[in-house]
Amino acid sequence: MDIAVEGIEQRYGPRAVLRGVSFKVAPGETMVIMGGSGCGKSTLLRVLSGIEKPSAGRVLYNGQDIVRMTEEDLDRLRKRWGFCFQGGALFGSLTVGENVAFPIHEHTTLGGKVVDIMVKMKLDMVGLTGFGDLYPSQISGGMAKRVALARAMALDPEVLFMDEPSAGLDPVMSAAIDQLILDLAKKTKITTILVTHEMKSAFAVADRMILLHEGVVVADGRPADMRESLDPLIRQFIDGLPDGPIPLRRNRDEYVRSMLNGHSKA
Ligand SMILES: Nc1ncnc2c1ncn2[C@@H]1O[C@H](COP(=O)(O)OP(=O)(O)O)[C@@H](O)[C@H]1O
Ligand SMILES: [Mg+2]
Repeated sequence: MDIAVEGIEQRYGPRAVLRGVSFKVAPGETMVIMGGSGCGKSTLLRVLSGIEKPSAGRVLYNGQDIVRMTEEDLDRLRKRWGFCFQGGALFGSLTVGENVAFPIHEHTTLGGKVVDIMVKMKLDMVGLTGFGDLYPSQISGGMAKRVALARAMALDPEVLFMDEPSAGLDPVMSAAIDQLILDLAKKTKITTILVTHEMKSAFAVADRMILLHEGVVVADGRPADMRESLDPLIRQFIDGLPDGPIPLRRNRDEYVRSMLNGHSKA
């Protein structure tokens, strides 16, 4: 699906969290939204997926603005989307297989063998063949993330939204999830919007990326463009200080630059 985000603003009371965010996502592309903690990534994803109405702006899917759409039309569109949200835990009282089957039951009247086959396919896809009968409490954190991904993919979505899919995992598990997302993106050509504050993940999976800072897009480009950028703000993110003790303020740019120069490779 072709996605165009135009001038999105989101205010909570007096606080402007998003202050005019615009970008486009081409069909089949994996777009990564990056930025430090609290910069508005999850808020943006909620607006993009129609969970929250923005204070201003438009979100167009194949030219249709979801901000002004009726709930009914939005629901119809949402059936074609998959969600893998931050803290979007599995249902503890359902088995792994039942968790994956959940959106199928929610959105279709399919049943019996057909659902079993669909669930098995999705579990195979995330490398969890044969784990369908286990309960979430019986699997590891990394496996739970993969089940969440299988659940998001249950209905072969046209758009996949993911918020910090590897959050809370150790680096090895996190890399495994990145690899899986990359595989899925390559094999399925689903339009994917992924939020992360982890540079490694971002560069591993992105076709294109935007960097969000204090509610605005400060960079938009291919991973290679970002890597080569000399913008101090972008460099600070890429070189791994997004959640560091240094507040990301323009007046600290000189400080950051001198620090980068001091420590950077030859
Ligand atoms: N529903 C809400 N009401 C008030 N403030 C909110 C709400 N949602 C998010 N915020 C605030 O907006 C800012 C951005 O939050 P969020 O989008 O979750 O950031 P990120 O995902 O980048 O860490 C935070 O300061 C957060 O406290
Ligand atoms: Mg978030």
